[in-house]
Amino acid sequence: MPGAIYAEGLVKTFGDVRALDGVDLDVPEGTVLGLLGPNGAGKTTAVRCLTTLLRPDSGKAVVAGIDVLRQPNEVRRSIGLSGQFAAVDEYLTGRENLHMVGQLYQMKSKVAKARAAELLDQFHLSDAADRPTKTYSGGMRRRLDLAAALVVSPPVMFMDEPTTGLDPRNRQELWEVIKQLVAGGTTLLLTTQYLEEADHLAHDIAVVDHGRVIARGTSDQLKARTGGERVEVVVHERHHMGTASEVLAGFGKGATTVEQHTRKLTVPVTGGAKLLAEVIRELDARGIEIDDIGLRRPTLDDVFISLTGHAAEVRDEENGSADDAGREQEKETAK
Ligand SMILES: Nc1ncnc2c1ncn2[C@@H]1O[C@H](COP(=O)(O)OP(=O)(O)O)[C@@H](O)[C@H]1O
Ligand SMILES: [Mg+2]
Repeated sequence: MPGAIYAEGLVKTFGDVRALDGVDLDVPEGTVLGLLGPNGAGKTTAVRCLTTLLRPDSGKAVVAGIDVLRQPNEVRRSIGLSGQFAAVDEYLTGRENLHMVGQLYQMKSKVAKARAAELLDQFHLSDAADRPTKTYSGGMRRRLDLAAALVVSPPVMFMDEPTTGLDPRNRQELWEVIKQLVAGGTTLLLTTQYLEEADHLAHDIAVVDHGRVIARGTSDQLKARTGGERVEVVVHERHHMGTASEVLAGFGKGATTVEQHTRKLTVPVTGGAKLLAEVIRELDARGIEIDDIGLRRPTLDDVFISLTGHAAEVRDEENGSADDAGREQEKETAK
């Protein structure tokens, strides 16, 4: 039995570009798949093919048990889509936007109004409900966009980079909302450039590059392939590097790498922030002055390097700004 979202051999070309080069996916009902990849990997194209907005050149897709190519209208009625770029009418209020979506789906006005109020509350937008959405912050717009996709409570949802460009606080708020949603049994396909996001939200991850799925597994499985977390220390005095290396060896679960010219030592660890605090105490107790210390967690780049031997390349020049947003701080530096 194929899952709630199923794709086999999806191919989509734009001129010379093979945006999708034979994509297979299978998302069991009630689970979340994270489609993880850099800009230009083919994530949006995959979402557009699965949501009937784009016709693939070849391949097969079944969503909510319905053939996407043969019965696009039926598919549209069973899915919700939240786009990479929030699609709300700036001049309408939040409430009016949601009401309008309900009416597009032929809900009775009273029902649409009640649903709008319920969603505004759920997405913490009640206070701003009657303000034009052009006064909303980026995070509020994203929440409204998600709410709009949920007006009809679809059994299958697609979210294309729901948190790209949001600051860390807004991102975490949105993660909470998404978690509540999937706790209700919705099947979700979510695209992201952040390993951390897929880690938080997805049961399974498919890593895409150049229109192909190059790896799949749980977040832990992918991270294990990168060597996992590590502590990085930059010592102040070069002559302390030997002692620092001994200290790290006591905490590490693998060999310590030493970079003489930058005075940086790196060791793979498990135990996160708590362990980091212990390392700091021990270095201090030995009288080793440090310039910098941090816990480094694997990022999409690390996963890419371990899978492909090269860093995630950016294919699409236009999307440069979104790519910058992808290079957020993944380092927890000790205070
Ligand atoms: N409408 C289009 N016309 C031409 N090329 C496109 C079009 N849509 C996407 N592409 C190209 O297809 C590739 C995949 O794009 P996309 O699916 O948007 O990637 P992602 O969402 O992962 O950033 C990119 O090289 C992109 O430039
Ligand atoms: Mg995209």
